[in-house]
Amino acid sequence: MTLVTDLTSRRADTSAALIDPLVDRWSPRAFDPNAVVDPESVRTVLEAARWAPSANNSQPWRFIVAHRGTPAFTTVHGALAGFNQAWADSAAVLVVNIAEVADAEGKPRPWARYDLGQAVAHLTVQAQHEGLHTHQMGGFDGPALHDAFGLADNLEVVSITTIGVLGDVDSLPDVLREREIAPRQRKTLDELVIGA
Ligand SMILES: Cc1cc2nc3c(=O)[nH]c(=O)nc-3n(C[C@H](O)[C@H](O)[C@H](O)COP(=O)(O)O)c2cc1C
Repeated sequence: MTLVTDLTSRRADTSAALIDPLVDRWSPRAFDPNAVVDPESVRTVLEAARWAPSANNSQPWRFIVAHRGTPAFTTVHGALAGFNQAWADSAAVLVVNIAEVADAEGKPRPWARYDLGQAVAHLTVQAQHEGLHTHQMGGFDGPALHDAFGLADNLEVVSITTIGVLGDVDSLPDVLREREIAPRQRKTLDELVIGA
């Protein structure tokens, strides 16, 4: 089994000193298909999401947690786009990230997707701190998942996060193996800050 042993190559090349979980977080596709993430660890990363800030403290995030080997995992995996199905089956857990886009009276929650994203960001950083890895996905059939889990009309499936333990890079198809070890890149701060 070939792990991405040189994890230093995955570390972010930051222009300022950041806390370790931010520097070390990256999105692998090679997960160990036998590794199990225990329920307590899942609870810990969800707790990080729970304490994210949100507009008016509305906490408009909901999660479906599907452990590998369960019917829920099969359902979530089945809704992924093919290019994600090819690797995400090895993750220990698939978390469906859901935004409550309107309140109980039908009043829109305009920041629901923003708030959900922030909660998921918290989850990913906590997972990194726990020694786990995450990979978020937008490539899936949201309406199919909405139907499969009988979600209410005011809930929208926005993204899916894999949680797992690093696995064998050689288990990936060639094109994904190349991406797994390719240099990580970002725009410069000068490109991002307008009017600086
Ligand atoms: C909202 C969102 C959707 C994404 N969708 C996919 C996806 O469908 N498939 C995939 O392999 N990666 C997906 N990614 C992962 C990104 O490609 C990855 O985060 C980006 O290339 C930066 O790499 P890093 O996370 O390793 O820093 C997604 C990430 C986010 C935040």
